[in-house]
Amino acid sequence: MHPDLQKILLTEDQIRSRVTQVAQEVDKALAGKRPLAVGILKGSIIFYADFIRCLTMPLELDFMAVSSYGSGSASSGNLKIRKDLDTDIRGRDVIVIEDIIDSGFTLACLKKLLTERGASSVTIVTLLDKHERRTHDIAPDYNCFEIPDEFVVGYGLDYDERYRSLPYIGILKRSVYEK
Ligand code: PRP
Repeated sequence: MHPDLQKILLTEDQIRSRVTQVAQEVDKALAGKRPLAVGILKGSIIFYADFIRCLTMPLELDFMAVSSYGSGSASSGNLKIRKDLDTDIRGRDVIVIEDIIDSGFTLACLKKLLTERGASSVTIVTLLDKHERRTHDIAPDYNCFEIPDEFVVGYGLDYDERYRSLPYIGILKRSVYEK
């Protein structure tokens, strides 16, 4: 275990098994479609790569990078788009793939934006859900793990751009971020 961690919350095996299970559910639900898999950078990259490899339908890939300005109302105007899609999503079935839903602000804004752009469906898939922190009225269509309100890193998630490449998800020691 990385020395900056207090404990491992989700092991590689637990992640692999649950990600495969959820991806198979999505695969069934969207069978016969040609969805666009949208990864939200950067936290989702490892989850995204594992998840899409379990999907069997023809798939197109695209990415967005966004940052939120805190807890403003859930309108697309409050979400800063740092990298936009390359794809015209009118009439497309879009799968949004996110590492974590916390307040719900980011995904509430993204869902509204993608719907306004004419997507015929928007399916939200999250790896982690910190449900107790939710302030915006949105729920993922599929979530792999509900987690407590702890500072988690690894498997794509960072603290100050560190720890993203850890293959498991761990709880960071308070001493690391309270320094
Ligand atoms: C994280 C995460 C979501 C957002 C969730 O991104 O990837 O996009 O925060 O929080 P919310 O539900 O309160 O809106 P972050 O800004 O840490 O960027 P990163 O993915 O590049 O690490």
